[in-house]
Amino acid sequence: MNIDLVQEIKSDVKVEFLDAKQLKSHKNKKTLLQAGFEAKQDTLCFLHEKALLVCGLDSSSSDNFRSACSTAIKSLNAAHYKSASFSVTKANIQAIVEGIVLGGYEFNEYKSKPTKRKLKNVYLVCKDIKALQKSFEEAIIIADATCFTRDIVNATPEDLNPPSFADLAKKLARENGLKCEILGEKELRKEKMESMLAVGRASRHDSKLIHLTYKPKNPKKIISLIGKGLTYDSGGLSLKPATSMVTMKMDKAGGCAVLGMIKAASELKLDVEIHTFIGAVENMLGGDAYKPDDVLVTRNGLTVEVRNTDAEGRLVLADVLDYAQDKVKADYMFDFATLTGACMVALGQYTTGVMGHSSKLKHDFSKAATKSGELVGSLPFNKHLKTLLKSGIADISNVSSKPYGGAITAGLFLDRFIKEENKEKWLHFDIAGSAYTETPWDCNVYGGTGAGVRFMSSFLKSVK
Ligand code: BES
Ligand code: ZN
Ligand code: ZN
Repeated sequence: MNIDLVQEIKSDVKVEFLDAKQLKSHKNKKTLLQAGFEAKQDTLCFLHEKALLVCGLDSSSSDNFRSACSTAIKSLNAAHYKSASFSVTKANIQAIVEGIVLGGYEFNEYKSKPTKRKLKNVYLVCKDIKALQKSFEEAIIIADATCFTRDIVNATPEDLNPPSFADLAKKLARENGLKCEILGEKELRKEKMESMLAVGRASRHDSKLIHLTYKPKNPKKIISLIGKGLTYDSGGLSLKPATSMVTMKMDKAGGCAVLGMIKAASELKLDVEIHTFIGAVENMLGGDAYKPDDVLVTRNGLTVEVRNTDAEGRLVLADVLDYAQDKVKADYMFDFATLTGACMVALGQYTTGVMGHSSKLKHDFSKAATKSGELVGSLPFNKHLKTLLKSGIADISNVSSKPYGGAITAGLFLDRFIKEENKEKWLHFDIAGSAYTETPWDCNVYGGTGAGVRFMSSFLKSVK
């Protein structure tokens, strides 16, 4: 499906948005009312003889436009029109693009007979194309990067394993002019990343650390983006129950998100230097698996008692965060991880959990997220929760001694690997709930959502 910004067009069907007030004076009011259409949010009425699709809207907020467009595009995809047009304004163009591209997203890689869509062209119509061109192009880049992230999250653990993840990053680097450095197990051993290596030991795939760099001429800031890239999380010897294991291909979503972010930033040609570090590892079990009771020596020398091999993401990130801090002196450092089920318990499935020491940074992200249509919620650190990570045998335990506040104790575990001078520069994003869905919501459809790509792009655009 193509999407274009045009001044005028004759399309097979026109999409119109109406609120309850506008419905009262609409020229097709009688027919619409007869059909039971009340202009409620996310309801539709097709008037085929008038080549019109009418969509209900509660108010003209971006969130409502995005959601209405997601509903509309699904209905258009099921119909037999070849082209459709939407009128757009400066205020709603981003939301409309997101609704159409993200709401209309389908992942057909594993379908033997993907459904063929008749809809080939979507036109966004406005009088002053020049005034909207830049917003349009930016919205398309960000929506496409989100779809790119979704595609990789949706790939099966057989197809997307640590080595093929590295290959995919190399391909992106070639296409987008990025620098790419891959560390294999030999190099990881040299770097003393024994914690990350332990998690991947029982896998038949070699673990990889993927470092991509986007370096514009005069960057305003340097930013490191670190992603948890567990291409599969079986739980290891602390095996997950069968029903919890399904969907665990999504445990690489943090790594996939940072790839989407660097793709968007490089295509938007932002004046920010970006480094992405992905710990690509598969958490399996077998004779060579790491065990509860092991004590691991991390890259920064801290020792960790393993009490649960399913709390593996933090063991990988501990080493990757330390490596990233030594490699790049960044102004900001953000990590993305499907880290805890507890984050979903705390905030619900739709919201990304944000943790860190800088209230200002957390506030900036709250603003960026609101602008982008993603949901983020802050989870506060405190010293009492920190004491729950004490170990009787090592410097720190990989799980908390109490069951409550699990998202925060995981964040506090990561905090132990952030150097003193970087504490205020760092935020941790737990995307365990927001990265994947089995039921559609907003502009998200079954599978990976691409969580993080939109709000990080919005933040990166605002960096001064
Ligand atoms: N990858 C999981 C977290 C997760 C759970 C992501 C559900 C998405 C959906 C993580 O590695 C994990 O298993 N965490 C444990 C930690 C526990 C053992 C302290 C969890 O959340 O149960
Ligand atoms: Zn796990
Ligand atoms: Zn995990």
